[in-house]
Amino acid sequence: HRMPMLSLANAMNEDELAAFDTRVKKGLDTEKDLEYMAEPKLDGLAVELVYENGFFVNGSTRGDGITGEDITQNLKTILAIPLSLRKNGQKTPPLLEVRGEVFITKDGFKKLNRNQEKEELPPFANPRNAAAGSLRQLDSNITANRPLSIYCYEPGVIEGVEYKTHDEFLIHITKLGLPVNNLIKKVVGIKNIIEYHNNLELIRDQLGYEIDGTVFKVNNYSKREKAGFRSRSPRWAIAGKFKAQQTTSTIISITIQVG
Ligand code: IVH
Repeated sequence: HRMPMLSLANAMNEDELAAFDTRVKKGLDTEKDLEYMAEPKLDGLAVELVYENGFFVNGSTRGDGITGEDITQNLKTILAIPLSLRKNGQKTPPLLEVRGEVFITKDGFKKLNRNQEKEELPPFANPRNAAAGSLRQLDSNITANRPLSIYCYEPGVIEGVEYKTHDEFLIHITKLGLPVNNLIKKVVGIKNIIEYHNNLELIRDQLGYEIDGTVFKVNNYSKREKAGFRSRSPRWAIAGKFKAQQTTSTIISITIQVG
């Protein structure tokens, strides 16, 4: 990757979300409420898409963050990924890298597992595993038959356009024809961060795709720069994790083996 693909630090509860907001404000030397972009944390697989002069030329997995795996042919089979960017009356950026999450919808997952069963193949444990397995296929005809989709959420290296804020970036890539999640919202201050997080946790089961939390990112890109990075994650963003879902299991049998 021209620019490393980092991960996010986690906040496990409201106190840790508040501590994040306090930390960022301290780092930016301000006491005023900050503007964040609030996003669902999609439970899929991070990928990078590279567009040169408006054409999709390369796509890769995150890998270790520095070097990913080339999965261009498989990504080309996903209908939600445009092979060329929409012109939209503006000049096409010579280089546009975007990061996003490839996922399978809950319905697509059920259908896929019914199919696996019919073909006497082992079922996938969850939509995330199904998406990961589908992207790693050596035969892109198999990938093409999997119900994969994508939402884009971060820039990589971009030449020819400059954005002051993250919402400017998201609006621009939407105009270029890239899919952006419709629950992304601008929120100001910790009270609204918590309200967004709790609301998403409430509506989580009604969504057509799996999410495992929320993500809050400083909206202003020069403020992001000032906040900086830790070794593997930015200081300007945090993942708010949902409480673990509880369910009851029945143990049907136990097999003892020599370890
Ligand atoms: S931003 C530098 N936004 O979460 C920040 N990540 O733990 C880079 N993810 O590897 C990531 N939804 O696979 C971002 N709206 C979102 C996300 C998101 C899901 C995943 C992504 C990333 C992981 C970080």
